[in-house]
Amino acid sequence: MDEVVDGPSALRCVACGSNYPSSPSLFTCPRCGGLLEPVYSSGGTPRGRGVWRYRDLLPRARRIVTMGEGSTPLVKLENLSRMLGVEVYGKLEFLNPTGSFKDRGMTVGVSVAASFGYRIVAAASTGNTAASMAAYARRAGVEPVILIPKGGIASGKLSQIQALGAWILEVEGTFDDSLEAARTAAVKGLAYSLNSINPYRLEGQKTIAFEILEDLDSVDYVVVPVGNAGNISAIWKGFKEASLLGLPSIKPRMVGVQAEGASPLYKAWASRSGAVERVRNPSTIASAIRIGNPVNAAKALRAVEESGGLMASVSDGEILKSLRILAEHEGMLVEPASATSLAGLIRLRSEGVIRDGRRVVLILTGHGLKDPKALEFIAKGAGFRRTSANTTEEALLKLEEIAAHSV
Ligand code: F0G
Repeated sequence: MDEVVDGPSALRCVACGSNYPSSPSLFTCPRCGGLLEPVYSSGGTPRGRGVWRYRDLLPRARRIVTMGEGSTPLVKLENLSRMLGVEVYGKLEFLNPTGSFKDRGMTVGVSVAASFGYRIVAAASTGNTAASMAAYARRAGVEPVILIPKGGIASGKLSQIQALGAWILEVEGTFDDSLEAARTAAVKGLAYSLNSINPYRLEGQKTIAFEILEDLDSVDYVVVPVGNAGNISAIWKGFKEASLLGLPSIKPRMVGVQAEGASPLYKAWASRSGAVERVRNPSTIASAIRIGNPVNAAKALRAVEESGGLMASVSDGEILKSLRILAEHEGMLVEPASATSLAGLIRLRSEGVIRDGRRVVLILTGHGLKDPKALEFIAKGAGFRRTSANTTEEALLKLEEIAAHSV
């Protein structure tokens, strides 16, 4: 097994269109430096569960490293639908094994790494990629090395990575600085890179689209939080390839949502120039998408354009409000980056961009338990409804009081 994807021209450059046979560490175009993506000469039929249900359109791996990722619920958000006048579904990606959608990519990326004999895998991360890579690397028996922006990731994620025993390298600066170091290390052959520049990892993430198509017979919009811009690119690729698996050929508009203080792609899209200017000091409460120089910019802008979609940007205030709405009205605790998808939908409804009755899928990317600070914020909004009792009798009295107040 020398090639990761079938055929003599299995990788295509998204910038210049050159084709190459796939090899596990070929990530960018040797001619122009553009991003590469796998192309398939044939499809197949979905079978089994989870990400590997779609194995005919995934990279080949001799050794599959899996934790049953994928097959996440697509749940109608009834209260939000009523409140917003559109039909809203949540794709609960936070229910993946390590609490984020990253597991879909890592099962594929780590399987490729293990199958081709790599001993060390590395990624720069705002936390979720790191936690996911650490977990899958442990199962594969390879060494995970993580680069994170010092002080820049949520505490739950740091604990997760530490508990999994990954090497952690805290780098002064932003995520973008960490990524630069990780990319250079990979080029020097120090480790196998599992950042989303790795086209094989992204292939796992496109299965989100396949699952949506198995659950719904129509979709108007798919709303995705955007950081390094791999996920929106992968999901759109999934919609484009679905018919190769015998799935319906439905092409929703892709909506990418960035946080105002870290929105280079929104700005590039809004200026219509397509030129992406790096944001030097990205800032937002949504630490997972605090990214100023998205590596998959070209793929993401293409996804938005080809699908007739759009980019949006939302403030931290709107993100926090959405976090609270999801908890209060739908019982769902997500991390701030996830809530940007709802914040984007609310904004686009208020601007009249998304019309009445449209069917919208929000990608809810990461679990709320990863970010205890954000949970505290929601708790404050809910008024800290907490009391105590010294005896069981006192507890009963308190319960009577609560019951009397609640009717
Ligand atoms: N939502 C969450 C919870 C994330 O962790 C990320 C990215 C995104 C959305 C955005 O996805 O980068 O593909 O556009 N987290 C990365 C990480 C950067 O290192 O965990 P994207």
